[in-house]
Amino acid sequence: MSAPFSAPFIITIDGPAGVGKSTLARRLAEALGVAYLDTGAMFRTLALHMAQRLGGAHFLEALPQGPALQSLLEECLFALQGAGAQTTLLCNGEPVGDAIRSEEAGMMASRIAKNPQVRDFLKQAQQGLGLRFSLVAEGRDMGTVVFPGALCKIFLDAVPEVRAERRFKQLQELGEAAALESLIRQIRERDHEDRNRPIAPLRPAVDAHIIDSSHHSIDQVFEAIMEAARQTGRDAPPSCPMRRKDRALSHEESQVLLERGKYGVLALAEAGPEAWPYGLPLSYVLMDGAVYFHSALEGRKVRVLAENPRVCFTVVGDAEAFYERNFTTSYESVMLFGHAVLVEDAEEKYRALFRLAEKYLPEHRDKAEGDIRQSLARTAVYRIFPEAVTGKAKRRKKGAKAL
Ligand code: DC
Repeated sequence: MSAPFSAPFIITIDGPAGVGKSTLARRLAEALGVAYLDTGAMFRTLALHMAQRLGGAHFLEALPQGPALQSLLEECLFALQGAGAQTTLLCNGEPVGDAIRSEEAGMMASRIAKNPQVRDFLKQAQQGLGLRFSLVAEGRDMGTVVFPGALCKIFLDAVPEVRAERRFKQLQELGEAAALESLIRQIRERDHEDRNRPIAPLRPAVDAHIIDSSHHSIDQVFEAIMEAARQTGRDAPPSCPMRRKDRALSHEESQVLLERGKYGVLALAEAGPEAWPYGLPLSYVLMDGAVYFHSALEGRKVRVLAENPRVCFTVVGDAEAFYERNFTTSYESVMLFGHAVLVEDAEEKYRALFRLAEKYLPEHRDKAEGDIRQSLARTAVYRIFPEAVTGKAKRRKKGAKAL
């Protein structure tokens, strides 16, 4: 299938251990011709690196903290090479090796994955890769925390017995001894650790396609995932080629304008024959590549967005009328299309509100924390991940007279 997507995009596949995520994510990346990001491999690599540097697995009993932990983490610089099934995850320029695949590395990864500093470090590394590449990103919290604005989110599940049996067969094929009972126990333990940790627990995003693979072949599950991806393609924003291509801004210039812009206008489309278009002025902030805005918990905007989350958001930068042989204007503006999604993650919601306060009243940022905590429960925050962006500018030539 040729990729139906024009701008860089992210598809997330989350789910518990042994559900077939890696095989399916790799296959999907291959079909779409984009890179495959195995985030479990990043946790495993960090765990092995720490064990090596700290003299064995007993470091788990007392993980270093603060700056000591940070400098250990920063010793690992991740990158991606290639695409599809050939994608390679690099750590410090070297492909991560097979040693990360052992059960012990998996268990250590699961333990360090509960540490907020470790998670934060990897989240930033993962988001950094997501800004540069279209990705199929596989893990536990890809759709909920790391790429909440992903174009398409899949959550794969299967009962522990089925997952253990699959793992058992894999190990047999590799000629490794294993007992089915102990694999079931290990999988239950890992599930318990991953689903019950306080930060970024394993759970489906509200807008995820949940696929239970217990009683389906890998091909059937792959077909279901492809269908979800295709639907996303159909729901892609309209393409509206710019007539004056000479005035088009580059992606980077559009980003700068979005970042610098003060206010924007959000256009919503109500459904039904009586519907009117609805455009409203907004304060907003750009964070991790997405536009965030806040709102009351109810009202017209909330009602319309619940029915139809497709939006168009416009920001106008500098604009001026002037005379140059005739009446004309200079302007710069950026327009993006996407789905406005209610932010459910408390930390993300808090961060967006804090960034809004910082953007509009930097001199009062010290009061932001208290004010936000007080109003958090009666405030909604929405995120629009740009699925298509166009920027346009007409610059003023020197010597023209302002009106
Ligand atoms: O998918 P995996 O088995 O390679 O992942 C190893 C461990 O890393 C897993 O038990 C939980 C953790 N992990 C995580 O917490 N978040 C991710 N996005 C990926 C993995």
